[in-house]
This record gives sequence, structure tokens and C-alpha cells, in this order.
Amino acid sequence: MIKPHGSDTLNPLFEYDTEKHHALITEAETLPSLLVSSAAAANAVMLGAGYFTPLAGYMKLADALSVAKNLKTTDGLFWPVPIVNMVQDAQGVTAGSRIALRDPNVEGNPVLAIMNVEAVETASDEDINEMAQQMFATQDPNHPGVSAFKSQGNILLSGPIQVLNFSYFQTDFPDTFRTAVEIRNEIAERGWGKVVAFQTRNPMHRAHEELCRMAMEDLDADGVLIHMLLGKLKPGDIPAHVRDASIRKMVELYFPPNTVMITGYGFDMLYAGPREAVLHAIFRQNCGCSHLIVGRDHAGVGDYYGAFDAQTIFDESVPDDALEIEIYRADHTAWSKKLGKVVMMRDAPGHTKEDFILLSGTKVREMLGNGIAPPPEFSRPEVAKILMDYYQNLDS
Ligand code: ADX
Repeated sequence: MIKPHGSDTLNPLFEYDTEKHHALITEAETLPSLLVSSAAAANAVMLGAGYFTPLAGYMKLADALSVAKNLKTTDGLFWPVPIVNMVQDAQGVTAGSRIALRDPNVEGNPVLAIMNVEAVETASDEDINEMAQQMFATQDPNHPGVSAFKSQGNILLSGPIQVLNFSYFQTDFPDTFRTAVEIRNEIAERGWGKVVAFQTRNPMHRAHEELCRMAMEDLDADGVLIHMLLGKLKPGDIPAHVRDASIRKMVELYFPPNTVMITGYGFDMLYAGPREAVLHAIFRQNCGCSHLIVGRDHAGVGDYYGAFDAQTIFDESVPDDALEIEIYRADHTAWSKKLGKVVMMRDAPGHTKEDFILLSGTKVREMLGNGIAPPPEFSRPEVAKILMDYYQNLDS
């Protein structure tokens, strides 16, 4: 199976040894504690689950800046996005201390992880702006990723962590949340060699479904890992349990058995387009996938990124030897009225825009909210039904 990123073995920071785990929980009660941001909590979950192998904890300022500017840590590890724990007030925490990190997303703020604080550093406004600019290619406060990043505070606490639980993800999504460890194990158990990962934060319409099918066929893959984001999204995006239900229905009805794994990961959406696509590739490699589908406006929002910037970054900014996982590049995909099937536009010569069924996200939401199913060429009727139920209950 493909090796994890920058390591021979996966490095989950969750404490799996029961005795040690118990000891850490007991110890946590005696430690000073700090309530962290949702982004820092999501980083802890990803680190705990092995997705962020080979990182051992939160990055120090020099690494965060180096990653933002040069896509590598000061030690030369290829990495596209700062993995940081930033707060507004360090509440007296100093370098050298051991602290408990409290989860902002679970009632009662239970301890999520224990951290050895190696450094407490203040990032200047210039540093924060530089990181945002490099990561998101904008500093527009209307960009949801920029505003989430800048709202965390400018004090960086760095150092290794030991993770005690997977926040709300394991309890809220018991059938769907998986660690990278579990996914690797399941891929091995299934005996799959070539595995295509499909990143998604949306319900899957026909275009998404066919992308998975096309990638499987073109690559002669053993299976597809549908890997949905279960963390926070911007307002207006569809909640994970609705996406999960619609994806499950689609797979049940339209894919042969044992060709798809339906899974999810606990991370908040960054909306960092190309940089997030590279992060996506790293953590799918850590899951044991040989390929990641990157299509149109991958991890994008609004019109901050060019439609295929998330593909070109792999040519322009990812050194040849940086990653083992490969990208399956998808062109804009839609139903062709002329050919009577979903196609990639590059495979549909002689077509104009009018020859495709193209519906904007806004239009689809409006239809679903009014109880109107999009055409079956756009959305499977069973998927449309789940989405209509959601939108209609939302209004009432
Ligand atoms: S994302 O933010 O998670 O990337 P989404 O769930 O919409 O958003 O997309 C999942 C994947 O499908 C991404 O790789 C995206 O580029 C691709 N994709 C979505 N719709 C299309 C489409 N119509 N044509 C080509 N690729 C698409």
C-alpha cells in the first residue's frame, strides 16, 4: 500500500493504549486548561486520527510562516497549510508547561488533548496577513476561511499533543467518521490496491457520481473512498447528516456492492481552494489512497480561485518527489443533451453551453426549497427527495 506522507508508518496522536489513555484523562484534571478555537480542535482531531502524519503537534510560528510561504516546514517537510493553535489570550500559559486543551464544540468543553507547550509566540499583524494571503490568495474578510483564520487570535501555542477523543465526530457520525488508521486497515482488509478518493462537502449529484465512476474506470481502480467533510461549513452549506444520507442512498442504488467506502473526517472547511486541495491529497495518501479526484473549483468558494487552480498547483508548487498520491484531474462535468449522458466537457467536442444541463448552486437550492426536484439528469430522484425534505423543513 502507498506509504504515509513523510513517514514509513502512520503516526496517529490519539493515545490508543487503554492504560495510558486512562492515566492521561486523570492527569488532565490536574492540569491548567485552555479553551481552543474550533480550527485548533479540528487540527487536534486530524492529528489524533493520523490524517496529519507525520506532524507531532501544532506548528511554531517559523514553521507556520514557512509552510504558508514555501509549502515546507523549516525542516523541509512538504506541507501546504499552517497547522496551528492560535488563541486571543494565552491565559498565563508559558513555554515548558503541560496543559489540557478544551473542546469548544462539545457541551461542557471536555478535554480533547494534552499539549506540551514548547513555545508561546505572538504573531504580528503582518505575519497573520502574510499567512492568510498565502493560504487563501486573498485577505478579503468576506472570504469565510480568511475570517475564520483571522478570528482565532494571534498567540500561537506550539508543541506536541496527545489526543484523548475525536470531539463530536465519533458520537454524531458513528457510521461515517473514520480515522486514517481505520481507513488504511479497511482498504487492506478489502484487498484494494488502487483506491480513488473523492473529497466532498456537498450532497452528490449526477456529476459527482459520474466523476467517481469515470475515475474508477479510467484508472482501473479497485474502489472509491467517498470521504466527506463532517466539520464546520459556511452558512448555507448542507449539514453533514443530510449529505451523508443522500450519499448513502446514491451508493446503495447506483453503485455495485463493495466498490465504494462511505466515510468522513472531522475537519472544518478552510475554503482555501488550491492549498486545501494539496492538504486533501496529503491526508488521502495517509489513508492509503493512490489517487485523489480534483475537479472544478475544488475546495473553492465564490470566485476567489480559477476553476482549475486546484489542479495547476500540483504542477507549479508541488515538487515531483513531494507526494506519492496522484491526482485524477476532472474537467467540468455535466449532462450532455446531445450524448444523453454525463460527460467531461473536454470529451464532448462540438458542444456549446446550451448542449449541457447546467444549474447553479443557487438555482438548485431554490428549486429544492420549493419542492421542485431538479431534472433527473442533474440529480437522482432519490437524492433530490432527501434534499427537498431538508430544505422544506428548514423553511417551516
Ligand atoms: S469541495 O469543496 O469538497 O471540493 P464539492 O463537494 O462540490 O466541493 O466537490 C467535490 C469534488 O468534485 C471536487 O474535486 C470538485 O472539484 C469536483 N466537482 C464538483 N462538481 C464538479 C463538476 N460539475 N465538474 C467537475 N468537477 C466537479
